[in-house]
Amino acid sequence: MIDAAIDALARGEFVLLYDFDDRERETDLAIRSDAVTPAHIRQMRKDGGGLICTAVHGEAAKRLGLPFAHEILCGCGLVEKDGEIPYDTRNHSSFSLWVNHRDTYTGVTDRDRALTITAIAEEVKRSLNGGGHDFAAHFRTPGHVALLRAADRLLDERHGQTELSIALALMAGITPAVTICEMLDDETGFALAKEDAMEYAREHGLVFVEGREVLDLWESCRPLI
Ligand code: 5RP
Ligand code: ZN
Ligand code: CA
Repeated sequence: MIDAAIDALARGEFVLLYDFDDRERETDLAIRSDAVTPAHIRQMRKDGGGLICTAVHGEAAKRLGLPFAHEILCGCGLVEKDGEIPYDTRNHSSFSLWVNHRDTYTGVTDRDRALTITAIAEEVKRSLNGGGHDFAAHFRTPGHVALLRAADRLLDERHGQTELSIALALMAGITPAVTICEMLDDETGFALAKEDAMEYAREHGLVFVEGREVLDLWESCRPLI
């Protein structure tokens, strides 16, 4: 399934990306950010129902000046403590800033979020190609798209969908900015069961891939930017 997942991601289709049985046990809808349309936002909020976030390669995040939220909030009593995330006590969450493109209106509509997300992908691409960039000229915070910053050493450091999706993007040879959204169960409100996510994939002709498969391929190739 890993090859099919890489091909589907490259084609701009959703990939269902499950993490691990000993981690969140969540499946995220994942799509390359430069291909996101308002219809994709609609599908994520209706069929996924979790938070719509854009994962960004760590080097691009550095060049664009996007910090980890826990770093900038460290003086605040609310900030997550070391080891506090129950499913991953070795790492912090990957949250960075929440942004809107400056050309959006409220920022939350399907159109606005698609605009913000595709523009983030452009900035990531430009920054990694060594081009000039001024993130603040195009985006404002607070906003309605959560940015996730991937760990510097990606899957050698952290095993979230943040890193899994960016590793997949590198292996697909596409811009490492991937938009993800957890799939929740409408009846229980909990994470959608793995089997139900697999069924959704079958019904919609989408690829379902597990973190283990991504990790195995990653360990054999470790693609660099
Ligand atoms: C943001 C999250 C999701 O779990 C998302 O999959 C990214 O987090 P992680 O990299 O920790 O899996 O918390 O909605
Ligand atoms: Zn999560
Ligand atoms: Ca996750």
